[in-house]
Amino acid sequence: MIRVLLAGAGSMGQAWLEAIHADPGVTLAGVADLDLAAARRAAPGLPVGTDVAVLAAETGADAVIDVTVPPAHHPVTTTALFAGLPVLGEKPVADTLARALSLVAAAEVSGQLFMVSQSRRWNPQLFALRAMTGTLGRVGSVSTDFHRAPRFGGFREKMAQPLLVDMAIHAFDAARFLLGGDPVTVSCQTWNPPWSWYAGDACATAVFEMTGGARYLYHGSWCSPGAETSWNGEWRVSAEHGTARWDGDNDPIGPAVDAPDGRYSGIGGALRVFAEALDSGVTPMGEVHGNVLSLAMVEAAVDSATRGRPVLIDEVLARAHEQAVREETRTDVREALRGWTDVRATLGAA
Ligand SMILES: NC(=O)c1ccc[n+]([C@@H]2O[C@H](COP(=O)([O-])OP(=O)(O)OC[C@H]3O[C@@H](n4cnc5c(N)ncnc54)[C@H](O)[C@@H]3O)[C@@H](O)[C@H]2O)c1
Repeated sequence: MIRVLLAGAGSMGQAWLEAIHADPGVTLAGVADLDLAAARRAAPGLPVGTDVAVLAAETGADAVIDVTVPPAHHPVTTTALFAGLPVLGEKPVADTLARALSLVAAAEVSGQLFMVSQSRRWNPQLFALRAMTGTLGRVGSVSTDFHRAPRFGGFREKMAQPLLVDMAIHAFDAARFLLGGDPVTVSCQTWNPPWSWYAGDACATAVFEMTGGARYLYHGSWCSPGAETSWNGEWRVSAEHGTARWDGDNDPIGPAVDAPDGRYSGIGGALRVFAEALDSGVTPMGEVHGNVLSLAMVEAAVDSATRGRPVLIDEVLARAHEQAVREETRTDVREALRGWTDVRATLGAA
């Protein structure tokens, strides 16, 4: 039985509470939130606090689930790791690529597991599409069409790049998983149609060259009323020996493959994988090193759209690494970051 602390009792925190309660191998030890009333509402009768390290010492918890807002991911996860607790964190790994690299180094220095939950990767239908892709020979391109018209209100309607920063990371991460490849370059344009209810750019097209030469094409909009796609988007894999398609909601269409293991689905699946990794000591999919290039795709796409030219992912990584070293406040983490001679090699292949 693993006793976890939930950090962040907001809207996604509620979904994580349900996942924790649904997993017979995991139990809730307490809730940390800057808003103590929200923490109390989330877990009546259980210990609450504003600081995960203090709450961990009080409760003797085994691990932390970080579901705070993205700017808090870096401080909360760093505190937890150096308090000796493994962390399962919501996407994105951090609010900037530089702080994501700092968290990679913090995981290395502390020796604790830090796994990022990309909930949309944990989808048996995506696993099936990946298995189909594996039978089709060399891949020419993978594309995602994402068209919806949600009215969130709140922070998303004020962000400069709401679609790329808040949503597209799911598709980018799934594309890496599907191809077993990583991004090399990106060319991206973003824009905001006249009827948009977002302040920032709600539409984007991006073409990534991936390792191995396949192209990944993303076309998305968050203000596209009518004929909406699924939240996963619509996918097409075009390969040497055929094609596979997925509407994001139903079983993919393509060559026959064995049904993948359906135990790992959504955030409940990520939680189960995390718990099993703590038990076995085996590094799970989603461990922070392997996740960071999904955030790099977002940051590079925004950079390409801003500069109006293609961008090399390695340039974006090098810049983020310099920034991470410059801004790091922990000496041990800064030394670890300085020791990296090749950021991409440190992060490892997809
Ligand atoms: N996987 C998905 O499909 C999905 C969907 C929605 C949100 N998310 C992610 O979940 C995370 C949380 O999003 P949300 O919509 O629940 O946000 P939210 O604003 O509803 O809740 C965040 C909570 O974190 C708390 N918080 C902020 N700083 C803190 C700190 N330093 N220590 C402790 N608590 C702190 C806030 O008080 C708030 O209660 C984000 O990273 C978001 O990207 C993922």
